[in-house]
Amino acid sequence: MLSTATAVILARMRILGIETSCDETGVALYDSERGLIGQALFSQVDLHATYGGVVPELASRDHVQRLLPLTKEVLAESGCVASDIDAVAYTAGPGLAGALLVGACTAQALAFGWGVPALPVHHMEGHLLAPLLEEDGPDFPFVALLVSGGHTQLLHAASLGDYRLLGESLDDAAGEAFDKAAKMMGLPYPGGPMVAKQALLGDPKRFRFPRPMTDRPGLDMSFSGLKTFCMNTIADCKVDGVLSETDCNDICRAFEEAVVETLVIKCRRAMEQTGLKTLVMAGGVSANQRLRARLAEALEKKGLNVFYPRPEYCTDNGAMIAFAGALRLLAGERHNDLSVSVRPRWPLAELSPPCLANGSV
Ligand code: KG4
Ligand code: ZN
Repeated sequence: MLSTATAVILARMRILGIETSCDETGVALYDSERGLIGQALFSQVDLHATYGGVVPELASRDHVQRLLPLTKEVLAESGCVASDIDAVAYTAGPGLAGALLVGACTAQALAFGWGVPALPVHHMEGHLLAPLLEEDGPDFPFVALLVSGGHTQLLHAASLGDYRLLGESLDDAAGEAFDKAAKMMGLPYPGGPMVAKQALLGDPKRFRFPRPMTDRPGLDMSFSGLKTFCMNTIADCKVDGVLSETDCNDICRAFEEAVVETLVIKCRRAMEQTGLKTLVMAGGVSANQRLRARLAEALEKKGLNVFYPRPEYCTDNGAMIAFAGALRLLAGERHNDLSVSVRPRWPLAELSPPCLANGSV
């Protein structure tokens, strides 16, 4: 349920959220008085696994097939009918152009048919706000660490829509590095959860991978060198072209340790630099248990608070889009534009607070 600290509640509203930016079709219904009242998710992991990564055209086609059945499922679960819906929020970017267009067209069509507004939502703002879905979620201002397959960023989040970039990965995102490292070891897509699973069985002392860009000041990061280090370590370990399970586990452990420690060092620095007391971590990689534990340990020791979403809201989902749309709608944002436009590339720092965000994407 919304706290008055995050929105001015004008009236009860039910907002349908639609997420189709990549390989998950997510739909959810958020009620400003009761919280989330329905949600459904279809993951395309099996569809793309054969190809070792997301195939954009297949992703778009699958969203087309799933979106309306999932929407019906959510309405049925929540006991609502179309006339109960006050707005339709959808992911307008960043993401795969074709996949985004499926969600945008469907959302605009539903909103037009139901006579309610459609609201474009920034996918990363959805991630960033996901921890606020919880009863005891954080309040602004806070430092946000967004770690997903496409982004690794530290931001100063002053209020809804007021985000200032503090630092980011200059090359690969952390999730992308996990996925690429996994692929090199022959682990199935998506790599992050697989590397984390194998790392549990690995020896933490056998290899030490570098902690990139931690020996110089600043909050920017880099993960592509780690990938190369990983590739060379794999090559050194292979016997007759085969990587043993023990070697794979030990490399996974060293790789995960390096990414986690690098992120923790950068977060600690961001907290010192901003003087803020709260850190919010979100995005697919925030599901990583070692990262959650290490970050909490490092920051709580200094009297700082760390928040992250429950695991199912770390990776892509419709709930975070419905919620972000709800916060913006309740804060007065309106869009009267019926055109369908998406932004596959859309820096989060370009977002505006709700009162200034009336208009097109
Ligand atoms: O936020 P998300 O679902 O999609 C994007 O917006 O990119 O993030 C997906 C990324 C993938 O790179 C995936 O490997 C990574 O999050 N990921 C993880 C874990 N779970 C998902 N990385 C490390 N450890 C995990 N447990
Ligand atoms: Zn995401």
